Amino acid sequence: MCGIVGYTGPRQAAPILVDGLRRLEYRGYDSAGVAIHDGKCLEVVRTLGKLRVLGEALDKRTLPGNLGVGHTRWATHGRPSEENAHPHVAGGVAVVHNGIIENHTALRKELTDGGVRFASDTDTEIVAHLVDRALRAGATDLVAAVQRALARMEGAYAIAVLSQAEPEVIVVARQGSPLVIGRGEDETLAGSDIAALLSHTRDMIFLEDGDVAELRPGKVRVETVSGARVERPSKHIDWSPVMAERGGYRHFMLKEIHEQPEAVSATLRGRIDLDAGDVHAAEIGLDPAVASRIRRVYILACGTSYHASLVARYWLESIAKVPTVVELASEVRCREPLFTADDLVVAVSQSGETFDTLGACKAAKEAGAHVLAVVNVLDSAIARLAHGQLYTRAGPEIGVASTKCFTAQLAALYLLAVYLGRRRGALTPERAQAHLQALCEVPSHMHELLGDADYVRSVATKLAPARSVLYLGRGLNYPVALEGALKLKEVSYAHAEGYAAGEMKHGPIALIDADMPVVVICPRDGTYDKTVSNLQEVRARDGQVVALATRGDESLHDLAQHILWLPEVPAAVLPLLTVVPLQLLAYFVATRKGHDVDQPRNLAKTVTVE
Ligand code: F6R
Repeated sequence: MCGIVGYTGPRQAAPILVDGLRRLEYRGYDSAGVAIHDGKCLEVVRTLGKLRVLGEALDKRTLPGNLGVGHTRWATHGRPSEENAHPHVAGGVAVVHNGIIENHTALRKELTDGGVRFASDTDTEIVAHLVDRALRAGATDLVAAVQRALARMEGAYAIAVLSQAEPEVIVVARQGSPLVIGRGEDETLAGSDIAALLSHTRDMIFLEDGDVAELRPGKVRVETVSGARVERPSKHIDWSPVMAERGGYRHFMLKEIHEQPEAVSATLRGRIDLDAGDVHAAEIGLDPAVASRIRRVYILACGTSYHASLVARYWLESIAKVPTVVELASEVRCREPLFTADDLVVAVSQSGETFDTLGACKAAKEAGAHVLAVVNVLDSAIARLAHGQLYTRAGPEIGVASTKCFTAQLAALYLLAVYLGRRRGALTPERAQAHLQALCEVPSHMHELLGDADYVRSVATKLAPARSVLYLGRGLNYPVALEGALKLKEVSYAHAEGYAAGEMKHGPIALIDADMPVVVICPRDGTYDKTVSNLQEVRARDGQVVALATRGDESLHDLAQHILWLPEVPAAVLPLLTVVPLQLLAYFVATRKGHDVDQPRNLAKTVTVE
């Protein structure tokens, strides 16, 4: 969703802002803009469409100045247009904003009744007018004016504000939406996430909800909305700037698919004790006695993270012997779920900011459950809310379609199952060793699968014309079928549906004909015979079959037109591997169709609205 960048320091602000916005492009946007202070005046440039258009507008009109804010907007209130693009200006105040101001209707009416004329349909413009009004009413400085404005606002937001009267100052504030501050020697930056700032500094300050910060060159002062001074120490980030670059790959998505062996290795590193057959993860924050008492694991997630959670249910039930429920966070919020203090609630999220997952976790926490965050982004909202954090260590994921974070989540959730299994007496050290050994071998098998990318590309050319593709799998392969279908629809815009193979006869079989490719995940595991029967049913109706099969399973040659080979591994780790050719398949179909795979239409990387 929207991206914010701010700069104050000795350098020219405009190029830094545009570069930062470029690094936030992956979040999704439809328009962009900057406000620059040249020491005397504030100048604003806004454009509809991609950042290239903003860049062209800035080329035509030099905007000198060492202070500025920039924004990429993903429309919520008001259609995508130049007038609705940020920054919004009132008097000498310019504002950029991410999130939603829930009481905007009442505030807009109040301001309109007071004589304000709005230039846009956005809720953001309200903030600019509130700050301007506070300054006119005698607020001592921009911080005080922003604090007065925030006291009137309800909802989730991150904002950055400039005032013509203060040519060195950016005031930023957060409530529920992400915002980080980057500290340089003599300069200070702000951004919606770490990736936007990494090329300038790795020293970051993470604001808490309700914080308001005044940024000056090299200086940061943080207060609460009510004006109390607070200290927020800076943290050194171990993500390197090159991790957020394409590094020779054509797209981030392809790079991130290839980074999976490292993402999984990093997530396992230091957490596995093979000799003892155990997992070290004190950060889960569960007392061993509490771990043994848990009656139920309740996993909350959306999208790809939900699919990783569905896989985890098999592991938690079979390895840790703990009843497990997996729910779409957006659906849980439509019910009155009965969380209890005996639940371990696990929130799975790449961004750690997904609004619905965050909201569902709050409800679980209020009900007394122990909340564990399995997230990729350090200090994100879900990580902060949770009692414990099991970070995935996939590095920044820029491609909108999640790939390496999915497999890193699987690795972390597998560790969680072994960890709980050992503490609940459900798993002997020897059995745990076998699980962990298989997990440690996953990265090298991933390398093998990535080596077959050219063959997957040739299969993709056959699939590319299809308007609809069905993905089938049973057991652990079913959530991977869902994930394979999601990847294809996200980036190739073809309709794709994941289905439990056993359900095919209950409906989807009606769809099968010669024009309907079916991707069947049928490795030699406990579900093999039944899945092969489904495959035969597809062939009998002339369906085109792409099978994912265990290397050497020659019997499938008669049933499938194309076979993507899988290594022979213990069945439990298969989901970490079967997904790799499916990600490649989606990528190659989409690139063949000429799509922008890193920023598919209508999608946002971080979903901070309901
Ligand atoms: C799909 C994808 C989305 C996210 C979903 C949840 O490729 O990336 O479906 O998985 O928006 O996001 P997080 O994991 O950040 O909570």
